[in-house]
Amino acid sequence: MKVVYLLVALLALTSTVVSAYDPSPLQDFCVAAKEKDGVFVNGKFCKDPKLVKAEDFFRHVEPGETVNPLGSNVTQVFVDQLPGLNTLGIGLARIDFAPKGLNAPHTHPRGTEILIVLEGTLYVGFVTSNQDGNRLFTKVLNKGDVFVFPIGLIHFQLNVGYGNAVAIAGLSSQNPGAITIANALFKANPPISSEVLTKAFQVDKSIIDYLQKQSWYDNNN
Ligand SMILES: *[C@@H]1O[C@H](CO)[C@@H](O)[C@H](O)[C@H]1NC(C)=O
Repeated sequence: MKVVYLLVALLALTSTVVSAYDPSPLQDFCVAAKEKDGVFVNGKFCKDPKLVKAEDFFRHVEPGETVNPLGSNVTQVFVDQLPGLNTLGIGLARIDFAPKGLNAPHTHPRGTEILIVLEGTLYVGFVTSNQDGNRLFTKVLNKGDVFVFPIGLIHFQLNVGYGNAVAIAGLSSQNPGAITIANALFKANPPISSEVLTKAFQVDKSIIDYLQKQSWYDNNN
């Protein structure tokens, strides 16, 4: 009998711990609205279960076109592309690379990424936070190799093989978000003041002007 009480107490305790957390943000922000115009939620509204079909859980993915300035193409399968992912905390991306193709340094503010190489050879890496000394971890991955990029850290993948490369990434969010570092800094809308950028990068204004004039490509779809 005592064991049963103990079990019940333990269960109660664990359930309290689990429900004590707020759900993580599922988009960049969700600013509180006045009641009358509160039509947005953290995530997406749920469809009437009676109307749900197999199609809501399905998506077909084709290889991405890699003839672009980066030589890479990320095909996303997140909640916007596959509505059945809503609230499930998981998503996927297919990344195609031309020879020398680059998935430029970027971060996912809401997701850890685990990547498997299906074809080709990739030089991959991530950089740790300031607190950890901005250490760089890199690895050359061949077919079948798996690598993990911890949530929020800046990472990249470069095709260093002779042919095309293909990788599949699983991410721990229905909407992990992607911030490509160069694009966010040099293609911000409206532009970030050059006074901020010259000081941050410790270069002349002419270099910042040059960088802000480039057409920073976004390889995410
Ligand atoms: C990626 O590939 C798809 C399919 O070929 C194409 O429609 C899309 O424009 C490409 N996107 C980018 C950003 O290169």
